[in-house]
Amino acid sequence: MSTRLFSPYELRGITLKNRIGVSPMCQYSATDGLPNQWHVVHLGSRAVGGAGLVIVEAAAVAPNARITHGDLGIWNDEQVNAFRPITAFMKSQGAVPGIQIAHAGRKGSTEVPWVGRKAVALTDGGWQPLAPSAVQFKDDYLMPREMTEQDIAQVCDEFAAAARRCVAAGFEVLELHMGHGYLAHQFLSPLANHRDDCYGGSFENRVAFSMRIVNAVRAEWPERFPLFVRLSATDWIEGGWDLAQSVKLARLMKSAGVDLIDCSSGSITPQSQGKMAPNFQVQFAEGIRREADMATAAVGMITQARQAEQILLDGSADLILLARALLLDPYWPLRAAQELKGQAAWPVQYQRAVPTS
Ligand SMILES: Cc1cc2nc3c(=O)[nH]c(=O)nc-3n(C[C@H](O)[C@H](O)[C@H](O)COP(=O)(O)O)c2cc1C
Repeated sequence: MSTRLFSPYELRGITLKNRIGVSPMCQYSATDGLPNQWHVVHLGSRAVGGAGLVIVEAAAVAPNARITHGDLGIWNDEQVNAFRPITAFMKSQGAVPGIQIAHAGRKGSTEVPWVGRKAVALTDGGWQPLAPSAVQFKDDYLMPREMTEQDIAQVCDEFAAAARRCVAAGFEVLELHMGHGYLAHQFLSPLANHRDDCYGGSFENRVAFSMRIVNAVRAEWPERFPLFVRLSATDWIEGGWDLAQSVKLARLMKSAGVDLIDCSSGSITPQSQGKMAPNFQVQFAEGIRREADMATAAVGMITQARQAEQILLDGSADLILLARALLLDPYWPLRAAQELKGQAAWPVQYQRAVPTS
């Protein structure tokens, strides 16, 4: 019996063995941006678990691009060398290794979540956050510095250099984090971007920073590898970023060589949240796919095999990303294959445990 979820997916020169991807998930467990044994086991387990694509959590393009001290980074060659065995292991398990690269902007210099997301002052080893405008995310976050033209050029160079390093580290899918209230989203949304120069005001000006990054990265990222962008498709707030603007941006990105939009939402301000329910963001994957003729990933409160299969059958998305369901159960894809009678092989080492019916 054929299933959509377990059908291969070709993008540029890459074939995913199924339509299930591990959504990027910060582990806040790195030191100096370096992946360690935690990342080896965490990412390796999800590859063993049968996902076709494993996207490594938001990796910062520079030390001051991090959210916390525990973020992964991809700004130096030591980090590249530490990622290499991880990408090699993922490939050995038949998973395509992907990575999300990011700049936190005004959400930077905070404690890891389990300490409580409070700001880390410069005097305590924090750093000066950058943003389109000098507006805090919330009162107890650090006041960001408004970026100059020189800062903007530097951040674009950092993204381009990070893309080069991702190739050297063995990644084959690259995702740019342009959602969740981080730097690129801060430029997109009128709720965070109050500039009156060529990066603020009109839609064209607000998307200029993101498009500059896309162009800089696409020039470095090999033709044969797909480029994804994660957007917050809406801010869920009147007067903020919304689906209509996301569709327009997706069209521009498509002509600039972006292959897929990963459709998330919210988080530009503390109030910017949708009502969480199963499939609550699928409408954005569907809208962008239809209106911009762009491949999309659906993500958010997708937890059941049949639910994921139906989203694909409905033509709402090309790929399904799971986050928390895969934290709870790295073998979700293998169990889903059994349920849907799709094609997926348990590792030979585990075959004595596989239920037969
Ligand atoms: C522990 C954790 C860390 C996350 N880190 C990231 C991240 O690094 N980048 C990102 O774009 N989203 C991040 N997210 C959001 C997820 O990728 C995903 O979009 C969200 O959890 C909704 O999917 P779910 O309902 O399947 O969990 C994170 C979510 C969790 C639970």
